Amino acid sequence: MTTEQKQEHDDAPVLAVTGGASGIGRATARAWAAEGGRVVLLDLSEEALDATVGQLGDRARGVLADVTSRDSVDAAFASIAEREGRLDALVACAGNARPVPSAEMTDEQFQSLLEVHLNGTMRAARAAHPLLKESGGSIVTLSSVAGFQGMPRRASYNTVKHGMIGLTKTLAVEWAADGIRVNAVAPGYTWTPFNARLQAEGSLDPDPITARVPMKRWAQPEEIAEPILFLASRRASYVNGHTLVVDGGMTIAGDWYHFPQAAG
Ligand SMILES: NC(=O)c1ccc[n+]([C@@H]2O[C@H](COP(=O)([O-])OP(=O)(O)OC[C@H]3O[C@@H](n4cnc5c(N)ncnc54)[C@H](O)[C@@H]3O)[C@@H](O)[C@H]2O)c1
Repeated sequence: MTTEQKQEHDDAPVLAVTGGASGIGRATARAWAAEGGRVVLLDLSEEALDATVGQLGDRARGVLADVTSRDSVDAAFASIAEREGRLDALVACAGNARPVPSAEMTDEQFQSLLEVHLNGTMRAARAAHPLLKESGGSIVTLSSVAGFQGMPRRASYNTVKHGMIGLTKTLAVEWAADGIRVNAVAPGYTWTPFNARLQAEGSLDPDPITARVPMKRWAQPEEIAEPILFLASRRASYVNGHTLVVDGGMTIAGDWYHFPQAAG
């Protein structure tokens, strides 16, 4: 690498992705790096981090971090300030789901999802704030079609995904004065390890879900990453506080409506 190339590399915009070692986060990191940016992946899983950084090469760095711990998140962003010296966007993907019948759900089960999704996103956003204020950067949070619907056994998951829209709007309004835009993407069902786990546990049957999607298929992670990248980038410079639904038309589908005279 020549000195000029190295300088260009070092000046490249930096994206931090929580949950960046898998699924939608990894696809987002890959797409950002493909446009010439640098990525810092924050994740719980060291093995998955090593594998992802191995795939992305020297544009990527992995940081072992747990978004349920304020110290861990603060240390990760302090390392970005020190090592990368800038931050242009944060995408908060860290998440999981634990479907349980609501009447049997323990406080711990309900609380654990609030910790990862809502508190985790808040911790990352707060830690990123000074760096994003400096760069005029942006944040993209992850809601879901579960942020618009009630689904059985998903009381904690649906709560956090509805809440994410509220958190996103509030940060968008408050931090606009700091030059930071905050938006959410609400994906529909996407082929990632997240859903593979739920399917293996017997908590998810893909076929009836596919039948509800007008496009009759699930998303690939890359199809969620592109809209995330759009919102994170300056191409969306006047989009603020918006939740972009990327679900193949699932949430707006009114195809249950039939004209009785057309039925026969
Ligand atoms: N896959 C879908 O169908 C779908 C649909 C709508 C919304 N979402 C949301 O998108 C986001 C990403 O989902 P995905 O499907 O890519 O999942 P995934 O399981 O493939 O990736 C999630 C990553 O988050 C990490 N993670 C979990 N807890 C963490 C913690 N405490 N600290 C740091 N990292 C942690 C995991 O190690 C994993 O690498 C989640 O917020 C999910 O709720 C997913």
